[in-house]
Amino acid sequence: MATNGERASGADDLASMALDGVVETVSLLVSAIAALAWSLLRRPLLVLVGTVVTAGWLRFGAEPLAVAALGVVVALVIWRIIAPDVYFSYAGRHLAGLVRGVVYPIIWRRLARRAGLTAYDARSLREDDPDMPAIVRVRVTRARVERILLRLPVGMSPDDVATRLDHIATAFRASEARIVPHKPGFVWVELVHKDPLARVVTPTGGADPLLSAVPLGRNEDGSLWAVRLRGTHLLIAGATGSGKGSVLWAMAFGLRDLVRRGTVEIWGIDPKGGMELGPGKNLFARFEAGSPEAMCATLEDLVTLKDERARALADVGLRLHEPTVRVPHVVVIIDELATLTAFAERAVVRRIEQALGLLLTQGRACGITVVAAVQDPGKDVVTWRDLFPTRIALRLDNPIQTDMVLGDGARDLGARPDHISELTPGVGYVRVEGTRAIRRVRAAYLDDDALAALNQTFVTPPTEPAPVAVAGPDPQGR
Ligand SMILES: Nc1ncnc2c1ncn2[C@@H]1O[C@H](COP(=O)(O)OP(=O)(O)OP(=O)(O)O)[C@@H](O)[C@H]1O
Ligand SMILES: [Mg+2]
Repeated sequence: MATNGERASGADDLASMALDGVVETVSLLVSAIAALAWSLLRRPLLVLVGTVVTAGWLRFGAEPLAVAALGVVVALVIWRIIAPDVYFSYAGRHLAGLVRGVVYPIIWRRLARRAGLTAYDARSLREDDPDMPAIVRVRVTRARVERILLRLPVGMSPDDVATRLDHIATAFRASEARIVPHKPGFVWVELVHKDPLARVVTPTGGADPLLSAVPLGRNEDGSLWAVRLRGTHLLIAGATGSGKGSVLWAMAFGLRDLVRRGTVEIWGIDPKGGMELGPGKNLFARFEAGSPEAMCATLEDLVTLKDERARALADVGLRLHEPTVRVPHVVVIIDELATLTAFAERAVVRRIEQALGLLLTQGRACGITVVAAVQDPGKDVVTWRDLFPTRIALRLDNPIQTDMVLGDGARDLGARPDHISELTPGVGYVRVEGTRAIRRVRAAYLDDDALAALNQTFVTPPTEPAPVAVAGPDPQGR
């Protein structure tokens, strides 16, 4: 049985717990009011609207104001019903950004603490009140992706935020979170609630095709996803059925006008016997889907071309090939790089490896771009990977393959190719050229009919190897 003393100490404990609860609630309330006041202060437009509304209320009374507010709400609702996308672009997303901009700072401290986004200032080391990133701005993009700009406290780096991305996504009930580096001391956190890339992307033709921006599909923010093909090589990695074929065909589609003009030639090498590239082989200046020896010979012909171009460039003192109709840029597409050598004899494998190595290290300046697809980025491909400056990671089986394909730190920045659903083939991650930032994209899809129609417009059969001049009497006696 508890003594009087024990009962008194139990009651004290309860009282002190209740006091702690009250203190915590009050401090939460105070910080919420402070956050609200701060976020209002930084939104003069909102304050202006609030002031006008209050003044109107005082001057005319509540009734006309309520009618006006109702009118605005009804107009917005009708707009939303009639043209939801236009409404969202011009009004909905700004309203959503405004609301989140007010709400998020209020709940942020608690979420940040739970997500482990805390830093201890070396000067104060206040363990009970650690420094946390502060929300500077909240935006909602046209593609319904939320972007939160955080100001980092002393002692916290973007990498610290990166390691907590999964926690941040859970805290905000987002399916995905990633960071986009900003200026020093700041970082954007992107939150995806509803996948803007869930719908199939249809290919769009640019009016003025450029080798520096070949359209491949759509970025998550709804803008065109285009890649530079001049002066680079491209690696596309993805598990079976991840949509590597769609990237290759979107690229061929994007190049079609340049191929017609004659400033670009596409060569196709399909180790799977023509299953992938065969349906559009009219587009290719050279197409090989036969034996490993034949594919090897095609690559060696390209090496010879490279050598000739390198000599020609050196003669005129140029360092980068300029595509012309007479000397077109060559894009060689290899579907399934690993299969290229899988069934070849040792001597042929060595020749293929040598030719590929030469093309990847010396082809860029000579107007030759290698575009290769691989299913398993970890196997034999590892030797080639670093020679491809541009890399695309479609759905992958394994999280460790992320950095293997996109380079060190890609996973920390939020690339999650292993989370891509099998229901969204063609979705992948790329690095934004010249930056560390990662972008989620979806390749455009040409279905069988579209591909057949494209193939049909290129009726000229692939160029046969030049006939070998044979000395001797003309069989027709000319
Ligand atoms: N971008 C896309 N949009 C919509 N559907 C797509 C897209 N890409 C591919 N698909 C669908 O997914 C299927 C598999 O795609 P695809 O053949 O391109 O995969 P893959 O990566 O080349 O596979 P594999 O390694 O087995 O050749 C296609 O038949 C098509 O139905
Ligand atoms: Mg394929």
